[in-house]
Amino acid sequence: MCGIVGYIGERNAVDTIINGLSHLEYKGYDSAGIAVPQGAGVTIIRAVGKLDNLKEALSGKEIAATMGIGHIRWQAHTEVNAHPNRSDHIVLVHDGIVENYKELKDKLLNAGYQFQSDTDTEVITHLIHSMYKGDLSKAVYDAVAKVKGAYAVLAISTKEPEKLVAARRSSPLIIGVEEGGYIATSDIPAALEITRDFISLDDGDLALITPKNITIYDNTGKSIQRSTIHIDWDEEMAERDGFDDFMIKEIHEQPRTIMDTLRGKIIPDEGRIFLGELQELDVANLERIIFLACGTSWHASLLGKQFIERYAHIPVEVDIASEFPYRDLQLNKNTLCICISQSGETTDTKVAMRSALDKGAQVLAICNVVGASLAKESTYAIYTHAGPEISIASTKAFTSQALTILLIALWLGERRKVTDNKQIAEIFKDLMIVPERINAILEQKEAVKAVADQYKDSKNFVYLGRNLTAPIALEGALKLKETSYIHAEGYPAGELRHGPIALLDKTFPAMFLAPGIKVQESIFSILQEAKAKGGRVVAVFSEKDRDNHPECDHALFVPDCEVEEMAVFLTVVVAQLFAYYCAKGLGRDIDKPRNLSKAVI
Ligand code: G6P
Repeated sequence: MCGIVGYIGERNAVDTIINGLSHLEYKGYDSAGIAVPQGAGVTIIRAVGKLDNLKEALSGKEIAATMGIGHIRWQAHTEVNAHPNRSDHIVLVHDGIVENYKELKDKLLNAGYQFQSDTDTEVITHLIHSMYKGDLSKAVYDAVAKVKGAYAVLAISTKEPEKLVAARRSSPLIIGVEEGGYIATSDIPAALEITRDFISLDDGDLALITPKNITIYDNTGKSIQRSTIHIDWDEEMAERDGFDDFMIKEIHEQPRTIMDTLRGKIIPDEGRIFLGELQELDVANLERIIFLACGTSWHASLLGKQFIERYAHIPVEVDIASEFPYRDLQLNKNTLCICISQSGETTDTKVAMRSALDKGAQVLAICNVVGASLAKESTYAIYTHAGPEISIASTKAFTSQALTILLIALWLGERRKVTDNKQIAEIFKDLMIVPERINAILEQKEAVKAVADQYKDSKNFVYLGRNLTAPIALEGALKLKETSYIHAEGYPAGELRHGPIALLDKTFPAMFLAPGIKVQESIFSILQEAKAKGGRVVAVFSEKDRDNHPECDHALFVPDCEVEEMAVFLTVVVAQLFAYYCAKGLGRDIDKPRNLSKAVI
């Protein structure tokens, strides 16, 4: 996974691009590079390792350019494989995968091109060069038409100074617009210091950008207008705000992001919900819902199943996105597939969405990143409005996703006359207190840290929940393994007896998630069994059980809730903090865990 930034305008290009790349470091951190035209030539500087190494390579060099392109990359451990790469007068950065790389490379080798790197990107660079007949944008258009796979490219040519060409298919690319120039980048935070106005390119679009003008062509080569979206995020939202890591900052943002997700969608006292995005949906004839997602978004989907079955009485399945295309399913327009993705760019989820559309279903995308591919290609799209999530381990996006699905469940239930406004108003009454309850947990975070310190040296962990907390058990375990590298598994608590209990001992602890939910008593009995068998047990209970909970080694507490669904939002915050403090205690690079990337493209 990579991040790209291109700038053309009145600003210093090197400073603008390096600053932009620094906001994309979460995308990749094994190499970085920059190319800026200089007179009739081009200066290309690349460095292996973190962005700081590129900054060091640039230090002392006064480069007065006003356009250029830059790249930050995951999994490139040699300078030659870092971008930008070059074919004579053409210089290019690329994010994506060229699936027909071998076939194109063979043709280019036969045509006499020599390859310097092992990257699939170099194929595109030479291809553009081979098709160049005096018009850079035409050459890029013709070249990418031959590429199978995903690409977001930024290309420049020393023969055509003052032109930046940007093109995308299946990889993200947006263009920030300001009075004196343009910034093309893979993600919004890279451009926020310059602008909040963005053009989001559709799949197959190509943009020819000069310092004062932008022309966009669609995949048929026709010149087309794409609207400009205004993003409310401010720079601070994309920065760490004084916290040590983005993960802990984003955990702390949840009281606010929960309200941002709700904003404009509900009148709490009246129990009314507005989801204009779904106004065309034929709710009465909806027969089946299938959630499709990966990772944390898949865990939010597991909660979604419970919410929708409970409040809308519609049968729901949840599929791992990467498995869905292989199912033999007969779908029709009365099936709604809900694809959840923070980034909206995860390839497995996009492929699943396309498969669902091909099978005849309607698709609702729930994304956080505005203008994401998933949202654009689906039948309906709802944004979670959690703001930029930088930490690879997802936290605030999860709570916003879960909340969005709760709203959808209640909205569907109300339209199908399964749940009435009075019931919804009761739920909202409790929901409106969730932010302050999360704040209460955050104020007590030292208690979570103290317990995490006791467990951080464990090599293994099992998380257990039942009904509403079963998905939280999976999410808690994922957070722990992603950030601390402790092996952790999440299970519905009942499954403990069917295998995992054999593993429990003093060195293999169990985390029970047993806040005040209807099935709490039945988790208590499994907890007691785990303890009786010699397990080391930490548990999350509700305040009301502080003096009356089953015996365990360490207990953590969440505020009491009237509506049991609300306990989900509190319990997951404890699980997030627990994972964070284990990782912190172990000295992990929390925002950039090894081998992981924010979106798997
Ligand atoms: C990657 C990230 C996970 C994330 C998953 C799905 O694996 O490391 O944290 O949950 O992708 O991402 P999405 O953007 O589709 O929600």
